[in-house]
Amino acid sequence: MIYAHIMAGGIGRRMGNTPLPKQYLMLGSRPIIVHTIEKFLLNDKFEMIIVSVPETWISYTNEIFEKYKILDSRIHVIAGGKERNDTLEKAIQFISDANGIQLNDSIIVHDAVRPFVTKRIIDDNIKALEEYNAVDTVVPAFDTIVRGSGSVVEEIPNRSLMYQGQTPQSFNIQLFVDNYHKLSDEEKASLTDSAKIMLMSGERVAMVTGDVSNMKVTTLYDLKIARAILSEGH
Ligand code: CTP
Repeated sequence: MIYAHIMAGGIGRRMGNTPLPKQYLMLGSRPIIVHTIEKFLLNDKFEMIIVSVPETWISYTNEIFEKYKILDSRIHVIAGGKERNDTLEKAIQFISDANGIQLNDSIIVHDAVRPFVTKRIIDDNIKALEEYNAVDTVVPAFDTIVRGSGSVVEEIPNRSLMYQGQTPQSFNIQLFVDNYHKLSDEEKASLTDSAKIMLMSGERVAMVTGDVSNMKVTTLYDLKIARAILSEGH
């Protein structure tokens, strides 16, 4: 089975002082999270679409889903965790409690605050899972990437080999759980990227081409860009 996991368990500190966590801010006529979930609803391959939100925002989330007619029995709104990995762990626990985890079950994990994900990107993740146990969505780096330490440059890697990571990130659930449980508590705290966890465990991670418009709304400036993209008719 294939599960979708929409990560909306954060509170958007870098957004500054907003009345609502950023995933609930309006983008055109609908909240950001509604745009994102609509993209996942287009795919009938998902057994469940798990939406993780801060515990105190569960009922608000259900209210807006009702308001914007996001009424699909595959959607389950659950509490996220303190850190990203905790949110993912809780979603996997939810799947395990509901259906058990079968050897070939996979999960497609996406940031709620990337509302311009496309059906093509989601489909490419699902397709790549037929051959790989882990998938990362990336775009080629446009800027030169500089690795530094303190105040000095340590390395300027060849830009043609550099990519920027986006989501979805997708993986075989059982393998991820096995690999994650092998990590020390410190590693669990520092490894917040699911693809990196799989990579460090020796898995081959497929790259799926994302899209520059599949941007993450992190700051108010990003929200302005997202509104501009929407008004261009995305
Ligand atoms: N997220 C989550 N659970 C957490 C932390 C983050 O599900 N404990 C989600 C966020 O809701 C967001 C996505 O992961 O959709 C990407 O994370 P980020 O942009 O860092 O979101 P926030 O943690 O909300 O933002 P900030 O770091 O500025 O507080």
